[in-house]
Parts: sequence; structure tokens; C-alpha cells
Amino acid sequence: MSRPSALWVAALVLGAGTGCWEQVHPKWFSAMKEQPAVQHQEGRAPWAPPENTVPAGGIVPRLPADSPLFDNPLQAPEGNELVNPFEPGEASLARGKRMYDAYCAACHAPDGTSNPQQAPVALALARAGAFPNPLGSSVGYSDGQLYNKIRYGKPNMPAYPQIPSDDRWHIVNYLRVLFPREG
Ligand code: HEC
Repeated sequence: MSRPSALWVAALVLGAGTGCWEQVHPKWFSAMKEQPAVQHQEGRAPWAPPENTVPAGGIVPRLPADSPLFDNPLQAPEGNELVNPFEPGEASLARGKRMYDAYCAACHAPDGTSNPQQAPVALALARAGAFPNPLGSSVGYSDGQLYNKIRYGKPNMPAYPQIPSDDRWHIVNYLRVLFPREG
């Protein structure tokens, strides 16, 4: 092989091997990551699962929009009858934080403010007209009502039946740390 062509081969191997080809215009070398993707809740309410599929955790009854839990959450008997079996001790709060960070922080931000700078999905929700700081209202709800909101979701918030019951209570306890109730 002549010297110049050996140099070309070396340049090609180096370029391909180090991923330089990715810098070329995507029209020439398309990469999977460039394809259009629709993110969860991008400008719309949660998606219903496709027909004839069963979501992990089983089929969840979502509360109808006219349920008293939405209309008048403070009076809803479904929430008031439930009693939180866990004291907000160290272990419960640590578990609640862990679950909150995993399941809730994407929309409600780690500190609960739903600040779009911290919570990637909050930005899409804000653009879609979502209430700016929905978690702030948690101070007005009983533990049972919060538990139910996690269990059943809200019109614009997914339901989380897959979070085990105990962990839902731990999240509720942690919400009380983020948004302490007066008195
Ligand atoms: C995909 C985004 C998203 C995730 C994830 C999410 N939420 Fe929400 N949440 C919302 C939106 C949007 C609202 C405002 C209510 C509405 O528009 O339906 C809301 C409202 C709430 C409210 C106030 C409800 C009311 O009636 O005032 C509570 C409490 C709440 N969320 C708790 C949680 C908890 C706890 C988690 C984690 C288990 C969670 N959320 C995960 C989007 C989300």
C-alpha cells in the first residue's frame, strides 16, 4: 500500500472508531437517537395503554373526572376513612424520599416546587397549561386523600398503583416534610 492511501485508511479507521462519523450531517449517517420521539405527557394528558394490552401492575380503575375526590377533595369520604399506619420516623421518611425522588420528582421537582428548571416534565406540563405548583395544595389534604391521589392519579397526573401501599404512605409522610402543615 502506498503511503498516502495508508494514511487515508488510518484516518478512516480513527474517524469511524472514535465516533467522528456522528458529527457528519444526520442526512448522511442517520443515528437512531436523532429520530423523532414523543415524550410522556408532551402537551397532553396521560396516554391510555394500547388496546388489548395489560399495563404492568394490572388494569387500574382511574377515578372518573366527576368523582368527589376531584370535585371536593377535602370532603371525599374515600380519603377521610383511610388511616396512615406509619409514624413519620426516620426510616419512613428516608423510604418516602427515595420513592418520591424516583416517581414524583420528574414532574414535581426534588423540592416539590414543580420548577421546570429542576423537573424535566414540569416544563411540558407548564406549556400545556398545568397548575404551577400543584403539590402546594397537599397541606389542605388528609393523609388518606394524598394516598388516593397517588393510587388513582389526577386528570393530568398518572396513577401509581404499582407503588406498593406501604410506600405510598411513606411518600405521604415525606410530602409533609416538603410541605409542613401548620399547627
Ligand atoms: C407526569 C407528571 C407527574 C408525576 C410523575 C406526578 N405528578 Fe402529581 N401532579 C401532576 C399534575 C399535572 C398535577 C396537577 C393536577 C392536575 O392537573 O390533574 C399534579 C398534582 C398533584 C397533587 C395535588 C393534587 C390536588 O388535587 O390538588 C399531589 C398531592 C400530587 N400531584 C402528588 C404526586 C405524587 C406523590 C407523585 C409521585 C408518586 C406525583 N404526584 C407524580 C403531575 C405529576
